[in-house]
Formats: sequence, C-alpha cells, structure tokens
Amino acid sequence: MVEDLEKESDMSINSKLKIAIDGPAGSGKSTVAREVARQLNIVYLDTGAMYRAITLKLLRAHCDLSDHSQVEALLEQTVLQLASDERIFLDGEDVTAEIRKPQVNAAVSRVAELPVVRRKLVRQQQEIAAAAGGIVMEGRDIASTVMPDAPFKFYLDATLPVRARRRMQEQREKGLPLSYEKVFHEIKERDRIDSERADSPLTVTPGVQVIDTTSLTIAEVVERILQEINPQTD
Ligand code: CDP
Repeated sequence: MVEDLEKESDMSINSKLKIAIDGPAGSGKSTVAREVARQLNIVYLDTGAMYRAITLKLLRAHCDLSDHSQVEALLEQTVLQLASDERIFLDGEDVTAEIRKPQVNAAVSRVAELPVVRRKLVRQQQEIAAAAGGIVMEGRDIASTVMPDAPFKFYLDATLPVRARRRMQEQREKGLPLSYEKVFHEIKERDRIDSERADSPLTVTPGVQVIDTTSLTIAEVVERILQEINPQTD
C-alpha cells in the first residue's frame, strides 16, 4: 500500500504538533479534527476512512472474514492512496463517497477487529505521521496505539441519542435518509464491537483529555482543543 498524503506544513511552528483525537461515531471528531488541522495548517488524517476502504474491498471480493489468509492475500494486493483534499483511492478508484454507504457502515467494525487489518493500517498511519511533521489524526486507537507519544490527546464523547441524531442529520444532508432507530442501532452496535475487541479497542487511555460534546458546538470544541495546545491563544 502506498499513500500520497502531502501537505505544506508551517515547518517553523507546527511541524512537531501531533494531535490524537479518538471517540465513538457521531462524537464530532471528524469535523473537529479537520477544523483544528485547518487552523494550525497541519495534515488531517481520518483513519476511519482507511478501515472503510479496506471493508469495501473485502465486501466487493465477497471475502469470508474468518478466512484470515484470504483477507491477508486481498490486503497484499490493495493500494490505498490518500489525497490532501480527503479523497481516498482504492486500487486507483476514487471511493470517497462509496465508503460512507450503509453496507460499509454495517460491516466496517467486523473488518476493523481483524488483527491483520489493524497491523497493516496502523503501520501505514505511523508512516504518514512520521512523514507529515504536524498532524491531527482521528480514529479509535490513535492515543493508545498509533501515536502513543503524541503530546496532545483528546477523546470526544456525547450521549448515544445525540450522536445518533447528528449522524442521521449528516446522512440526510448527503441524500441518504435513514430512520433514527436504524442509525441509533447501527452506531450502538459499532460502539459495542469497537469497545469490546481484543486488539486496540476504543477506550480512554491515561493522559487523554475527555471532552463531552453533548451540549457543545463544533466551534466550542475546536476552541477548547486549541486552548490546550496553545494556552496563550485567546
Ligand atoms: O465516522 P464514524 O465515527 O462513523 O466512523 P469512522 O471514524 O469512519 O470509523 C469507522 C469504523 O472503523 C469504526 O467504527 C471502527 O470499527 C473502525 N476504526 C478503527 O477500528 N480504528 C480507527 N483508528 C478508526 C476506525
């Protein structure tokens, strides 16, 4: 697998900024992470998109997830490319929209619990972090596994009903109307699998700052994170 993520960072100030943002679905982490990266002029990496793209590949191949050698063989033939505008390419095809579809939502946590998948993607994410200088990386295991030495680590959370409502709204805006009940149960099940898996589960690790976003706006969460990084900023 190769990656094309490149960004002109502000080498003088921000090149060593490593910021980890973890949290469950609908906690606001993608929007927040993207905005923090924009304001600091550093790379933004959505690691969930990588798990989603691999899931799409395995779904299309009708892969039996219990057959680890089949999964491994497919992974070996996979080329993931990440562009700085957040488009993601799977074997040369732009799959940015397709990885957000319900069939990928339903399967991704089952794929993400496979150690062979995690090993590959974590290695790739660590290479991207090393090459990037400053980076905001968001996912489920960034503080615990991908960038344990990052000086700034956050865990965003919100109540399940609020997260489900946010996700439903996002899907509607993309022209994918789903019922509240369906979204609620899908993210609840994904949270369960992500938190219970043996390999680098979703959890709050020591040294991580937890932000409950239930009644905060995106701007307020971004502000809180920026304050933490640079307490002198107004
Ligand atoms: O955007 P949303 O919060 O719905 O999910 P995502 O960030 O796109 O991640 C999709 C799935 O990928 C998660 O539910 C996890 O199963 C998996 N994932 C992971 O295991 N580790 C990561 N660092 C990122 C995502």
